[in-house]
Amino acid sequence: MYREFYGFTEKPFSKTPDPRYLYLSRGHREALARLKYVLEEKEFAILTGEIGCGKTTISRALMDTMGESYRFCFVLNPRLTPMEFLRTVARSLCCDLPATSKEDLLQEMTDSLYRLHCEGLSPVLVIDEAQLIPDRDVYDEIRLLTNFQLDDRNLLSVILMGQPELRTILAAPQYEPFRQRVAINYHLKPLTLEETQEYLDFRMEIAGGYPGLFTPDAVQKIYEFSGGVPRMINLVATNALLEGFGREQSFIDAELVESLRSELIHS
Ligand SMILES: Nc1ncnc2c1ncn2[C@@H]1O[C@H](COP(=O)(O)OP(=O)(O)OP(=O)(O)O)[C@@H](O)[C@H]1O
Ligand SMILES: [Mg+2]
Repeated sequence: MYREFYGFTEKPFSKTPDPRYLYLSRGHREALARLKYVLEEKEFAILTGEIGCGKTTISRALMDTMGESYRFCFVLNPRLTPMEFLRTVARSLCCDLPATSKEDLLQEMTDSLYRLHCEGLSPVLVIDEAQLIPDRDVYDEIRLLTNFQLDDRNLLSVILMGQPELRTILAAPQYEPFRQRVAINYHLKPLTLEETQEYLDFRMEIAGGYPGLFTPDAVQKIYEFSGGVPRMINLVATNALLEGFGREQSFIDAELVESLRSELIHS
């Protein structure tokens, strides 16, 4: 196996989310800092980014860093009707069996938000893949959730994350009331070439290997193939390690990465 061949104790570019492998590029660090602020101030934020850039990873990192006093509610697939959406949020905030009428449901949620507040807990609603929200009514419900207040302070922080098309959707005039409530609007970009190098070395070191296994020219090629998108970097790097093992090559050079072009780039 390539793992033993290159001296890794674990797979360096595995898909399994693991906080030890979290690499903080400038963009990831800034996104995290802004989201922390949003949680502290109980605000409303939108995080967009290209596919595979690390949005979901950041939401997990945020939960890991915020400590016990925050109660996270994740909506991972928001392809829901407004009622399904509210019931999903209610279930994760408080009630195992949320009410079926909207009026009762909203009352239950108000009560739970107030109760959490009294217990010193700050609820956080994270809606991932928000570009999949099917209709405007769900956005209206989200907007209304940000209205729950006590003494002029919100009772709930809301983070909406999604692919770049989320921005296009929300740019339409009918979303003006929604947009006005957004305190932080951050777009996560792919890694730069230098960050790609650091990312590769960082993950290899955590996995027990040595940095510098990829030559600078190889890193340049990985950057070219992946566009600096972490999920794509993982894919190219894993394929390069497999190929290197097959060739019994102790370093991964540009020629080896180039030989994967037809396998990895389909367009
Ligand atoms: N900062 C990071 N540190 C370590 N690994 C990362 C980081 N960002 C992304 N990754 C890796 O890239 C992969 C894709 O990240 P993630 O799923 O968070 O992207 P996403 O932006 O949510 O993608 P999608 O748009 O498809 O939902 C993850 O499996 C993770 O291993
Ligand atoms: Mg994601």
